[in-house]
Amino acid sequence: MGSRKIAIMASGDGTNAEAIMQWCQKNPQLAQVVVLLSDQKDAYVLTRAQNYKVPCLCMSYPTSRTERPAHEEKMSQALLEFGAEWVFLAGFMRVLGKAFLRPWASEQFYKIANIHPSLLPAFKGAHAYQDAFEEGVKNSGVTIHLVTEALDNGPILLQKSFPRHEDDDFNTFKARGRSLEGPLWHEFLELWSRGQLMVPSKAGGHDAISSL
Ligand code: GAR
Repeated sequence: MGSRKIAIMASGDGTNAEAIMQWCQKNPQLAQVVVLLSDQKDAYVLTRAQNYKVPCLCMSYPTSRTERPAHEEKMSQALLEFGAEWVFLAGFMRVLGKAFLRPWASEQFYKIANIHPSLLPAFKGAHAYQDAFEEGVKNSGVTIHLVTEALDNGPILLQKSFPRHEDDDFNTFKARGRSLEGPLWHEFLELWSRGQLMVPSKAGGHDAISSL
């Protein structure tokens, strides 16, 4: 299958991006990170990318909503120019519209995967750990799913759950979830790069997502 070319998008500290870059560094025959794009110019993830010698792009979102489609189209084009075949959202805190998604369309899905810190479909949105904690759940988790136009709603590829302990405060609860995120990317990359992650196909069977 050859080495697959990945673009990472991230907005913050970058622990998820680092987990992906680390795995690719160890498995260059399976996948390589060709570019990392952030929407935040001061995000620490940019430093992490430089440490891995991954080319970085910083593209801040325009404040005006009407300028966003053109901006998103530009972001996609920039990633394609680096040769990216798939996009992994690793803590990218923007909702991507059609203008971004379009060039990544395959037969029925977009070649874009996202990590979300809850057991989807529960607790969509930007504050999932907090929302789950405040709701008093006994278990929460982390999910990697394919991206669709609807927020945090695409086909679920992998999930891992963790328990809430009786003496948890928000920080200990969240830390337990955060510790699962990097390992979940590693598990995802192992399966994805070998064509072992399946989604329902149009014809009624299942397709390996890496062949989309
Ligand atoms: C992670 O907890 C990730 O699950 C979450 O943002 C954090 C990024 O951390 N993503 C979302 O909430 C997406 N809706 P990082 O910058 O250290 O990778």
